[in-house]
Amino acid sequence: MRILITGATGLIGTELVALLLQNGVEVHYLTTSKKKIIKEDKYHGFFWNPAQGIIDENSLLGVDVIIHLAGASIAKRWTSAYKQEIIESRIASSNTLYKALKENPNQVKQIISASGTAIYPDSATALYDELSIANQDNFLSNVVVKWEESINKFKQLDIKVCKLRTGIVLSKNGGALQEMLKPIQFGLGAAFGNGQQITSWIHIHDLAAMYFFAAKNQWEGIYNAVSPSPISNENLTKALAKQLHKALFLPNIPRFVMRLMLGEMHELLFTNKNISAQKALDNGFQFQFPTIEKALGNIIA
Ligand SMILES: NC(=O)c1ccc[n+]([C@@H]2O[C@H](COP(=O)([O-])OP(=O)(O)OC[C@H]3O[C@@H](n4cnc5c(N)ncnc54)[C@H](OP(=O)(O)O)[C@@H]3O)[C@@H](O)[C@H]2O)c1
Repeated sequence: MRILITGATGLIGTELVALLLQNGVEVHYLTTSKKKIIKEDKYHGFFWNPAQGIIDENSLLGVDVIIHLAGASIAKRWTSAYKQEIIESRIASSNTLYKALKENPNQVKQIISASGTAIYPDSATALYDELSIANQDNFLSNVVVKWEESINKFKQLDIKVCKLRTGIVLSKNGGALQEMLKPIQFGLGAAFGNGQQITSWIHIHDLAAMYFFAAKNQWEGIYNAVSPSPISNENLTKALAKQLHKALFLPNIPRFVMRLMLGEMHELLFTNKNISAQKALDNGFQFQFPTIEKALGNIIA
């Protein structure tokens, strides 16, 4: 099997590439950075510039599956210019891939795209599965709606479309968890708001394994890429402190403080989403790290 990955050089992509190569899968990848291009037998980089619609079409040669991860990071301050980049990087990359596939002979059977759980509305009571009504009216959910729309059109090319609505990815190499750990390491950790907001998360090994599983099993449609054990912000903060052998003694941090510090992006810390992993489980996916204890035990060991 040969898989073409966009965003292969990022947090999730790096983990996924390692897993695929270990399993004998050949990897092509598209990068916006010429200095990240490596040309090896089984790992071969190609240049693209989605903002200008530029793509090296040789990247499609012999490819069975595309895994689409590329997009500007959401972990930078959301100025209005940067918000545009967050949206446009995702739409332009989908459009550039679509045009290349439409205009070039290829054997691509499936595209699996990253998507986000931001598409589900905040709720203290709902348990969201893939049939739940998605879409709430805030910046990030609008990004995900437009991003998913840009992927749906690949069906017109007779390509199976799969979207993994991904929760917070826990990794030892970066991402949200490393930011959560910093204040706790300095004895300044505390939960946010009333701490009851639910975080739906996934260990990065499980997420990479889910992409591979989705490719091997030709998954089609939406799948939530979250562990089966969502956790409240307060319990997550306690679990992190326990793993680091640190005490938590500060009161919870009020929302307005985080709004002042982070601007609109503070919403990420207060989002409240209990998301079901049942569809992935019912379709045969097994989590190696289904609980927060197992995940943190592996990451912070
Ligand atoms: N990490 C999470 O917790 C999480 C949760 C839900 C969804 N996701 C989604 O999953 C995808 C991968 O996440 P990640 O954490 O691995 O992201 P990441 O570390 O920020 O990597 C994303 C990659 O996308 C490419 N990229 C960056 N800006 C771009 C732009 N303007 N145009 C085209 N490509 C660009 C870069 O690759 P090159 O430099 O090689 O071009 C970068 O390595 C993202 O779309 C993200 O939104 C992540």
